[in-house]
Amino acid sequence: MKSKLRLGYLYLKLQQLRGSLNVSSEKIKRQFSRPTLPVDNKEINLHLGCGNIAHPKFINIDGRPAPHIHYVRAIDNLAPFKDNSVDLIYACHCLEHFSYNRVPLVISEWHRVLKDNGILRISVPDFDLLIKIYNDCDQNLDSIIGLLMGGQDYQFNFHKAAFNEASLRRLLLNAGFNEVRSWQPGSTELMTFNDWSGRLLGGKYPVSLNLEAIKNSSS
Ligand SMILES: C[S@@+](CC[C@H](N)C(=O)[O-])C[C@H]1O[C@@H](n2cnc3c(N)ncnc32)[C@H](O)[C@@H]1O
Repeated sequence: MKSKLRLGYLYLKLQQLRGSLNVSSEKIKRQFSRPTLPVDNKEINLHLGCGNIAHPKFINIDGRPAPHIHYVRAIDNLAPFKDNSVDLIYACHCLEHFSYNRVPLVISEWHRVLKDNGILRISVPDFDLLIKIYNDCDQNLDSIIGLLMGGQDYQFNFHKAAFNEASLRRLLLNAGFNEVRSWQPGSTELMTFNDWSGRLLGGKYPVSLNLEAIKNSSS
């Protein structure tokens, strides 16, 4: 039993080391070549916490470097972008990576950079759906632990907040957004990503709460 635990620990450490080596080599590569911004777009669309996904119409921002990431930086500080300058922010399964105490500040930073009529499109694990899955799986915590707490396999992959429709709606309205509504993954080009927003757990259970909010200073 002890040697099994030791092996497990060693495996985790090796994975972490491999992750850090990848990050360092990506940082070095970036000194020589950076991805070009989607300049032909009239609109500025930000994909925050994009992970491996590279949608051609978005500026990709993530804390982990990769060849398609335009800005390697914290997604709760959008200093490169002026107030009222961005048309659309897409953030899928990353808001829950902030402490629930900080979530209002993060949303208000995202609100700051959006133009009038700009859209904040969010996907997060839906706490109510997780509870349903948990009950359906004989209250086996393993069925939802990753979605509840995050994969916990690298620095940015820890969940520190949970949401259901009522709580996320309230947070968005409190941040100054005027209209909050659901959105459907895959229904338009700018809603089409092969990501967590449309993923089914075990090929069966939807897990995501998909809401978008409009910034409209005049109403
Ligand atoms: C669970 S992954 C989601 C990836 C992708 N959006 C998807 O749905 O498949 C969360 C992503 O957010 C990034 N991330 C989380 N917290 C971050 C932070 N504070 N600053 C920058 N990136 C962060 C992680 O590096 C990771 O790529």
